[in-house]
Amino acid sequence: MAGLSDKRCVKVSRYRLLLLPALLGSVMILTHCDSGPPPGGGPTYRELGCNLCHGEGREGTEMGPSLQAVHEHWTPEKLSTYLEDPESYLSTDERLKAISTRFSAHMPQLPMTEEQKRLVIEFILKSR
Ligand code: HEC
Repeated sequence: MAGLSDKRCVKVSRYRLLLLPALLGSVMILTHCDSGPPPGGGPTYRELGCNLCHGEGREGTEMGPSLQAVHEHWTPEKLSTYLEDPESYLSTDERLKAISTRFSAHMPQLPMTEEQKRLVIEFILKSR
């Protein structure tokens, strides 16, 4: 009986040897896909605090909507106008108005340099 379980043990550790690289592989793939925002605008997005309401991966939070499909609705020019004065833009855009009813606070007007604005727009317009 003891011999049998030894054999089983060898079998299991052989599987383990095979499983380990497979596991490591998938972890690496996962962490690669999940490694957060691409470089460039990512740091600016965080620096300005957009992540606090729109989520690290732009997936949205209870404070703000997802920004993952922003490229479908916005051009860089429109976004630039929006970021300068989100409140007044809101009244001109029915879709945005509908979104805003889901949140208790509105999109704030955040002070940013032209460079920060350019980077953050570039970042949020990148499709995933
Ligand atoms: C205090 C929370 C908060 C912060 C911080 C914030 N937002 Fe928002 N944002 C919102 C809310 C809420 C809306 C939905 C519109 C509304 O109610 O004003 C919105 C809407 C938007 C939209 C329009 C989404 C759409 O579907 O078209 C964009 C783009 C956007 N935010 C970008 C940003 C960027 C870029 C930053 C950082 C500079 C930022 N937001 C920071 C709360 C926030």
